[in-house]
Amino acid sequence: MEIRDDELVLRPIEARDADAIAAGLADPETSRYMLQIPTPYTPEDARTWVARCEQVWRDETSYPFAIVDAAGGAFLGSIELSGDSGSIGYWVAPEAQGRGVATRALRLLCGWASQRPLRLTTHPDNVASQRVAEKAGFRRIGTITEEQRFRDGERESILFELP
Ligand SMILES: CC(C)(COP(=O)(O)OP(=O)(O)OC[C@H]1O[C@@H](n2cnc3c(N)ncnc32)[C@H](O)[C@@H]1OP(=O)(O)O)[C@@H](O)C(=O)NCCC(=O)NCCS
Repeated sequence: MEIRDDELVLRPIEARDADAIAAGLADPETSRYMLQIPTPYTPEDARTWVARCEQVWRDETSYPFAIVDAAGGAFLGSIELSGDSGSIGYWVAPEAQGRGVATRALRLLCGWASQRPLRLTTHPDNVASQRVAEKAGFRRIGTITEEQRFRDGERESILFELP
């Protein structure tokens, strides 16, 4: 199963992605505004997460994709749609940030997903992620209190929806 355009392919996360996931999420700036990320992030954390991804695909409860380069297949990041809540999360590897990868991946995922509304939340200071959401057509709805705190202790998130 894959979703693609001229530049990117979204395909299910697989065991071969573990090293790239470990490398990307070891970057403290990349994991800074992500909830539920162990710090420091180890290769074992990545392998555990990949196994969980394979399980949720089998269960059809959530859909975690690798974002890969359409030309060479390089791992660029990850994007996940949670089946029950319609919530989306994403991250892009440090070396691939700032060239439209997240925006393109989010548009692709929203085009594939049939459920609405789709939702995502961001740390109030995560302006790059908020721009990505807005460029993909999401609207800022308000704020919500997360179950967990961000690394800096913040617990309020900005909520975005695609109606
Ligand atoms: C947020 C993130 C996914 C963006 O990925 P990306 O592929 O670099 O995003 P894009 O290139 O598609 O777009 C980024 C937008 O944010 C803007 N931006 C980037 N850094 C910014 C900053 N510090 N302040 C303001 N805007 C910023 C870019 O200019 C661009 O907007 P523009 O097209 O209007 O110029 C990526 O930075 C990332 O993985 N961050 C760490 C994980 C994370 O925060 N995930 C989201 C959790 S909600």
